[in-house]
Amino acid sequence: MPKSLSDGQIAFYRREGYLAPVPVMSAAEALRLRATLETIEAGMGGPLRGDLRHKAHLLFPFLADLVRYPAILDAVEDVLGPDLLCWNTNFFIKEADTPSFVSWHQDSTYWGLSAPDVCTAWVALTTSNKANGAMAVIPGSHTRDQIPHRDTFDRHNLLTRGQEIAVEVDEAQAVPLLLAPGEMSLHHVRLMHGSPPNPSADRRIGFAIRYIPTSLHQLEGEDSATLVRGEDRYGHFELEPRPACDMQEDMLALHSRLTGRAAQILYKGTGVETFNDPRAIRG
Ligand code: NI
Repeated sequence: MPKSLSDGQIAFYRREGYLAPVPVMSAAEALRLRATLETIEAGMGGPLRGDLRHKAHLLFPFLADLVRYPAILDAVEDVLGPDLLCWNTNFFIKEADTPSFVSWHQDSTYWGLSAPDVCTAWVALTTSNKANGAMAVIPGSHTRDQIPHRDTFDRHNLLTRGQEIAVEVDEAQAVPLLLAPGEMSLHHVRLMHGSPPNPSADRRIGFAIRYIPTSLHQLEGEDSATLVRGEDRYGHFELEPRPACDMQEDMLALHSRLTGRAAQILYKGTGVETFNDPRAIRG
């Protein structure tokens, strides 16, 4: 029996490679999470940059809670099964009236994971719509194999390498995923997707949570993940602890080590060593 999705929704995800919108919390709760993020940003003197945009659930308890939200995990369990790791998280923040965008890509391109069994829960902390640069997808494109990408390192491209699909994408097929605060979309790791800039007067905040079944492994070396549901009978990933407070000293050291190792995988062959390299600072 599915935990939260209907049989029709599960069939849609398998056929189309995505599902949206899926409600996971009230709009008021999403607003509270946004306020928590913005209090942290104010204390740091600006938006999260560099490695702080990645695996931030190891540094801030409100995000450690978010990757464990039952409403998110119930839906993800319906597509990936009962033993779940949170492999990574990434903020996709487009500030008001800025050129930041995401080129057409498949997530699987540089992740080094052993199988395309990865589901992203993209949680909207603000509205995400056509006016502020919502993500769009090419339905059914997840059934294609890995497509070649080229790296652009465009500084306005929010992807690690500014990578883009190296063949023509039929944008007439694109479907924008419209989300209200507190809703999420789910998408498959091979689904072609991208998003335009945000010309609106407010920032657009999405938090992408990458879930995998415990059976996967990293092909490019050592890697880590957070066990969020069920049990890990494989031990393929170094399991990450949960932070007790914001920017806990030992968690900062761990986060620095783990994101540094992840950057080695994601930037392999480019000369970029860390998310704090000037070529890696996006947005
Ligand atoms: Ni993506």
